[in-house]
Amino acid sequence: MKMITALKGTHDILPEEAYKWQYIEDKIKNTAERYRYGEIRIPAIEYTELFARGVGDTTDVVQKEMYTFLDKGGRSLTLRPEGTAGVVRSFLEHGMFSDALPKKLYYLITCYRNEKPQAGRYREFRQFGVEVFGAEAPSLDAEIISMAMSLLNELGLKNLVLNINSIGCPKCRKAYNDKLREYLRPHYEELCDTCKTRFEKNPLRILDCKSDICKNIGKDAPMLIDNICEECREHFEALKKELEILKIGYVINKSIVRGLDYYTKTVFEITSDSLGAQSTVCGGGRYDGLTEELGGNPVPGIGFAMGLERLIMCMEAEGVFMGAVSVPDIFVASLGENASRFVSGYVKELRDSGIGAERDHMARSLKAQMKYANKIGAKFSIVIGDDEITQGKASLKNMETGESEELSFDEIINKLKK
Ligand code: HAM
Repeated sequence: MKMITALKGTHDILPEEAYKWQYIEDKIKNTAERYRYGEIRIPAIEYTELFARGVGDTTDVVQKEMYTFLDKGGRSLTLRPEGTAGVVRSFLEHGMFSDALPKKLYYLITCYRNEKPQAGRYREFRQFGVEVFGAEAPSLDAEIISMAMSLLNELGLKNLVLNINSIGCPKCRKAYNDKLREYLRPHYEELCDTCKTRFEKNPLRILDCKSDICKNIGKDAPMLIDNICEECREHFEALKKELEILKIGYVINKSIVRGLDYYTKTVFEITSDSLGAQSTVCGGGRYDGLTEELGGNPVPGIGFAMGLERLIMCMEAEGVFMGAVSVPDIFVASLGENASRFVSGYVKELRDSGIGAERDHMARSLKAQMKYANKIGAKFSIVIGDDEITQGKASLKNMETGESEELSFDEIINKLKK
């Protein structure tokens, strides 16, 4: 019979790799704790309308990349392509605007986008993200950028570039959109079909279209940051000052528009020279109008998300420490049936004392048991036969040095206890 494989663009994380994920997730949780973020866990599936309204129905994500289907009740549902829309929904649904503000939330989630898989681009991928609600101050923008940068630095990454930009507010966007349309009008016929529909509705989206022709047309378009209003400019200037106070280097990258519609004012991307074409490890920005877009009262918001597969690729490319695969503290070999029964109880005692212990379940010979102990990387081993049981002690062997010492069963537990 034909074997069933994983879907294209998805991947299994095997125990030989999972330790890296655990290492990174531990660092993330520790950073989130220090910056005082609470964890939020949201569903992987939502009403399609949440993303159509939240992410924006003229974005590539919504128009081309969502896994959308009708459920048995005929409702249109979508696997989340990102976390912000779901977190905002939850923030409003649970009345978190009445909590002490700013409300700071973080999440570790899987996301689903039907994109063409390539290095660093998956159809199911993982994100670490944060969202903060209730504060407009540029000091918060700088603080969350600083959090992202310090996490990446703490993970040992060096070749990072922080790109910042401002994409203004609905007020300045309106005048800019007219200007952009004027620039694009002579090229209208050359635009891809999707961008033709974006021309009237949301011409800014044409600037992050993935088609080469549209990219080329957009190259010399007027830049949004050169057309923002006074209030947005002041906010951006204040952000730059805050970043300088925090000693965070940045480049102003006028071409960053981000692929999602909810952004206002600050947008940023952290890229790495260690990655190939998919060089953005982290992206985020402010979204002061999103709670209203989703039917709530106005509450300013800002956040970012990091792609964890890309983060791991980057760490591998830079050869930084990513934790170590876990090995048993001790392998307990047994000789004969009586000893095997004794070992069942003793191994439980070891494990209950916090020691990582392994034993044989395959009726292996002693020689094969020791070979297995080596293969799984056990730090110590003991062999238990009838004599050891009678005397209440065994020879504890250090598998690395080969040295042994005679200890009672309780002494072995005390020695290996962490
Ligand atoms: P995004 O830029 O769409 O933003 O995604 C954030 C990060 O997720 C990217 O920088 C990248 O590292 C990773 N990523 C995106 N797509 C893929 C993919 N197909 N395969 C692997 N990794 C991928 C957002 O999702 C926003 N929700 C971020 C945000 C939070 N803005 C404000 N708050």
